[in-house]
Amino acid sequence: MVNLQGDEKTAYVRAMFNRIARRYDLLNTAISGGMHHRWRRLAARMAVDGVPLPLGLSSTLSATKGKEEGLGEGSRALDVATGTGDFALALLAKGVPRVVGLDFLPSMIALAEAKARRKKHRARVSLVVGDALHLPFPPDSFQWVTSGFNMRNVADLELALAEMARVARPGGRVVILEITPLPPKGFFPHLFRWYFSAVTPLIGQLLAGDREAYTYLPSSVLRFPDAPALAKKMEAAGLTQVRYRLLGFGSTAVHVGEKPARE
Ligand SMILES: C[S@@+](CC[C@H](N)C(=O)[O-])C[C@H]1O[C@@H](n2cnc3c(N)ncnc32)[C@H](O)[C@@H]1O
Repeated sequence: MVNLQGDEKTAYVRAMFNRIARRYDLLNTAISGGMHHRWRRLAARMAVDGVPLPLGLSSTLSATKGKEEGLGEGSRALDVATGTGDFALALLAKGVPRVVGLDFLPSMIALAEAKARRKKHRARVSLVVGDALHLPFPPDSFQWVTSGFNMRNVADLELALAEMARVARPGGRVVILEITPLPPKGFFPHLFRWYFSAVTPLIGQLLAGDREAYTYLPSSVLRFPDAPALAKKMEAAGLTQVRYRLLGFGSTAVHVGEKPARE
């Protein structure tokens, strides 16, 4: 069980993703049974269309507001820790005009670049090597700021959220897709915990020759805040109207928050 912090955690995460970069997509598909693509599509839809409110409530986070204001020519999304670029491509598929994908590993950026080219989207995607904890962009730059399956890995979650909120435009959205700790009781939570702790490392060993990386995965989820706690942290980062939706029998969550518009 890895319990690293600060620079040591960052170094560990860098080395691990560098080792598994070429097998990352295959492993995601094997471990999630292909569901990861669907979850990113749904998160991209929630970013662009907003989150429908429960019946009878009204709010500024309307289902169409982001779409009308956001999908203009100059609007851009930033996908933080883009990895091989799947979330960035899901945003393009939802009509986002341009996406910047950022990752601290050149090996991942190269794979994202090759994928964007293969899918004929290279012209609409910019890829940047950079750190989620020090985003190399001025404040208020992006209509959408997203991150998929990486908040568990950053050395400073509060700083990562603050950086995402900083570079979002007022009225823009911040979207986090992440595996989420399951409640201690119940059949599905037990099943998932067994799957994560026993089966996932085995899949990692068989398909990537890297049992350690896929032992880290379940242990990193255990230390991550649950969905309500993550929503609170997003609010503490200055986001409002934070909502989340649980997916995959509660194993994964999409959180959406809005950067308040200026008066
Ligand atoms: C689990 S993968 C997620 C990739 C992609 N977002 C997805 O949805 O599949 C995590 C990615 O985050 C990157 N990463 C981790 N910490 C980072 C940081 N502090 N800054 C930038 N990228 C980071 C890793 O290099 C890796 O590509």
